[in-house]
Amino acid sequence: MKFFLDTANLNEIREAASWGAIDGVTTNPTLMAREGRVDFKEHIRTICTIVNGPVSAEVVATDTEGMLREARDIAQIHPHVMVKIPCTVDGLKAIRILSEEGIKINTTLIFTAPQALLAAKAGATVVSPFVGRLDDISHQGMALIEQIRQIFDNYNFPTQILIGSVRHPMHVVEGALIGADIATMPFKVLQQLVKHPLTDIGLERFLKDWEKVFK
Ligand code: E4P
Repeated sequence: MKFFLDTANLNEIREAASWGAIDGVTTNPTLMAREGRVDFKEHIRTICTIVNGPVSAEVVATDTEGMLREARDIAQIHPHVMVKIPCTVDGLKAIRILSEEGIKINTTLIFTAPQALLAAKAGATVVSPFVGRLDDISHQGMALIEQIRQIFDNYNFPTQILIGSVRHPMHVVEGALIGADIATMPFKVLQQLVKHPLTDIGLERFLKDWEKVFK
């Protein structure tokens, strides 16, 4: 399973990259806005130089023509760039055209299996079902991942499943057990994946025992 970092924060990306922990980055308009009024293209280019893998950057146009224009522009930023397009009718039209041009597309804001299937049929490289936001409204986000995995396997779709809206380590574990291709997570969740109290207690005990004899 690949781990992506779901952030546009350069410090977090640099830190996670130094652990050898991340295979890519996902951004969205909210995450970009959190970084202030940065130069969008320059910022994405910088992320691409830190991470040796796909970096998702999202269009903000909502009509097909506008999405096509923005997507072609974003795709020029760096070879690592994957263009994020929302799962709407205009989005599907854009995905079909852009994927034929060889532009890699991450279809975002997926909340149902048919949406994922349509995105795959349009030629998307990646689909991003948002599990946390489904959990937030008392649905089972992980059940959606299971459905999409089963459907893509039934028909041999090469489209990768990226778990978005990850809120805690169990989303990552359950997604890995189901066989999702990628999990994108906030830096906080990546930190939580490392931590275990028994690791800390064990280390403390080792050091105390060592000191008793060798110091
Ligand atoms: C996915 O690529 C999205 O950027 C992201 O996971 C959305 O998550 P949120 O529900 O925490 O905003």
